[in-house]
Amino acid sequence: MNVLICDGLDKEAIEQLQAAGHAVTVHRGIPKETLMELMPTCEAVVVRSATKITKDVIERGARLKLIVRAGVGIDNVDAATAEARGIAVRNTPAATSISVAEHTMALMLALARHVTRANASVKSGEWNRKAFEGTELYGKTLGVMGLGRIGAEVSKRARAFHMNVVAFDHIINMEVVNALDIEALELDALLQRSDYVTLHLPLVPETRHLINRERLALMKRGAYLINTARGELIDEAAVAEAVRSGQLAGAAVDVYCGEPPAQDHPLVGLPQVITVPHLGGSTGEGQRRAGLEVARIICEFR
Ligand code: 3PG
Repeated sequence: MNVLICDGLDKEAIEQLQAAGHAVTVHRGIPKETLMELMPTCEAVVVRSATKITKDVIERGARLKLIVRAGVGIDNVDAATAEARGIAVRNTPAATSISVAEHTMALMLALARHVTRANASVKSGEWNRKAFEGTELYGKTLGVMGLGRIGAEVSKRARAFHMNVVAFDHIINMEVVNALDIEALELDALLQRSDYVTLHLPLVPETRHLINRERLALMKRGAYLINTARGELIDEAAVAEAVRSGQLAGAAVDVYCGEPPAQDHPLVGLPQVITVPHLGGSTGEGQRRAGLEVARIICEFR
């Protein structure tokens, strides 16, 4: 097949595709005009989260048979249009779960111990141990919103830190809840109970702005919010307001409504908010797993 790889892919995965006889074009950071130019000859297209496979892009794909998302969230692919045209949409749902879970733990620990602010302080010549006294995760309650693969991996790690874990999902699997030794709660109860809330839900119409002004008001005063899922799950302006008022002690965000976020983005300028550039799935191991899975999907596609 003519395979267009838009946001980069593991080197060995590209070699496997070539060895199997596929004609591979790699175009990292592809501009929309180039994508539109290449679509008519393309039979399979591979993306991460940056390239948007919108309706107009799909409609240009006269020979397009397969769209592969090297990663989890397929909210950047117009799956309904693809399906209506008989084009398959696939992703690699398990490849980066551990990477995202570890990243979530890193952000939670960084919030608890003020790592990013303390680091900046020492580099600016200060030595202020008192200002950065932290808190332990031990004995605190973590609210996990979304108990899929990533939410379950986060829960496991949080239990190893002796946190109490409460979880919400639209459909909750009680076997998973019991195996993880955690508790299932309705969303509002989870928000009222948690010292940390972490989001692991997909972006669909029902989850858009799930964390809004009203739900932030339900949270414990001084709780922390971590978003490594999708920017649109939270009302960013409302979260910024909650941080400024002290309702939230802080937040850590990996994902934004628009990426990259503008410099005047409501969360980027707040010192209590850790802002990182969508790094959850970005590990060598995760990208290798995702790449090899993409290669397998394309090679087995009939
Ligand atoms: C995903 O949905 O897999 C993650 O958000 C990672 O996205 P990325 O592949 O663009 O890093």
